[in-house]
Amino acid sequence: MANVIVVGSQWGDEGKGKVVDLYAREADVIVRFQGGNNAGHTLVVNGKKTILHLVPSGILHPGKTCIMGNGLVINPRVLLEEIDTLNAEEAISADTDLFISERAHVIMPYHMRYDLAREKLKGNKKIGTTGRGIGPAYEDKMARTGIRMCDLMNETMLKERIASNLDEKNFYLTQYCGEKPLDAQEIFDEYCGYIERLRPHITDTSVIVSEKIGEGKSVLFEGAQGAHLDIDYGTYPFVTASNTIAGAATTGAALGPTSINAVIGICKAYTTRVGQGPFVTELTDDMGNRIRDIGQEYGATTGRPRRCGWLDTVVVRQAIRLSGITGLAVTKLDVLTGIDPLRMCVGYRTDTGVSPDYVPADLDMLERCEPVYEEFDGWTEDISRAAKREDLPPQAERYLQRLEELTGVPLCLVSVGPGRDETIVFHNPFK
Ligand code: IMP
Repeated sequence: MANVIVVGSQWGDEGKGKVVDLYAREADVIVRFQGGNNAGHTLVVNGKKTILHLVPSGILHPGKTCIMGNGLVINPRVLLEEIDTLNAEEAISADTDLFISERAHVIMPYHMRYDLAREKLKGNKKIGTTGRGIGPAYEDKMARTGIRMCDLMNETMLKERIASNLDEKNFYLTQYCGEKPLDAQEIFDEYCGYIERLRPHITDTSVIVSEKIGEGKSVLFEGAQGAHLDIDYGTYPFVTASNTIAGAATTGAALGPTSINAVIGICKAYTTRVGQGPFVTELTDDMGNRIRDIGQEYGATTGRPRRCGWLDTVVVRQAIRLSGITGLAVTKLDVLTGIDPLRMCVGYRTDTGVSPDYVPADLDMLERCEPVYEEFDGWTEDISRAAKREDLPPQAERYLQRLEELTGVPLCLVSVGPGRDETIVFHNPFK
């Protein structure tokens, strides 16, 4: 038995869905611990694509316990739609195997309105959020005005909370943002409509996690977004509103750090980001377009084209340090087939000529960083059928070896195509 955290080591969209789906075979329990439906985890099973925004990616394996921890912010409408789709299209019992923390916060209609209205007001200074109300929901959590899943089941309290929150929210929406006000009764009626279906799922999930660990079961913690979107350590303010590094699993799923055995960092073979913010290795030329087309780099949640660039090992090294990553899972290596030469960023050149091993917090300084690249010969062979490391062309092997050298962390798998089977496994963190 082992308890393993999977986190993104870049700006999200590293392919965590596929890796979590693979590791879910080994785990008894799969837990999401932060974020909300800003995430979009894509899984391809037997050629069929499924995109999950809230439900843990382990749900596609029957009989697993799936948990949405207290660290999430949950839009009940989106969750119920996702459950319905899974039940209908995947013939999966999402209704019986899914537990939701009573302490998770609820995304309300005013959170989404705030998110969109604020982005509109900011104009070209916007963050480029997903518009799903994630930031405003976490703001209310910290302001201690949030509504939690358990509050949904207390209609009197729910009514009061919605009314008192709307007093403030409508003032801001109408007076500051120039938007129309929202109606408290409409929101109350809508949210009351979700309660009966959600009630059987809502519980103290920390008890389930702790009991399962006590029984010697294996737990997989599924991170969303990536280290550089972390509210503390990402490229602030161009970040999401939660902690995305591995430590968030302990607070967002409520277990002690001593229970964790391994942390796997997902690292795409190149770099992408959606939304605004600095991106040192960004390619704004034909090469960037080529990677976007081949890698199908369009947001799973918003459909926005992702910004693409060379692999940045400064970014990955920082993620390794922040999350205590013990193994790297490299994804989408196949997308680089046919590109010659390839480049990998090994350091940043700054004003002082120093090449730091960390990403500066000061965004002006980060904007001035120039990437220091190493060049690699590319390969042209189709690598999607490679079953073991030795099957890879020597150029691909060299690229991977250099990544291992520069990060000091062993690779645990390499993904060479979207399907479950298109994966070369070097080491299983559950064994
Ligand atoms: P928010 O999480 O919707 O507030 O968006 C804040 C920033 O995080 C924006 O740049 C989003 O594009 C980015 N972001 C949020 N979730 C994801 C994700 O799952 N993948 C990649 N970027 C994300």
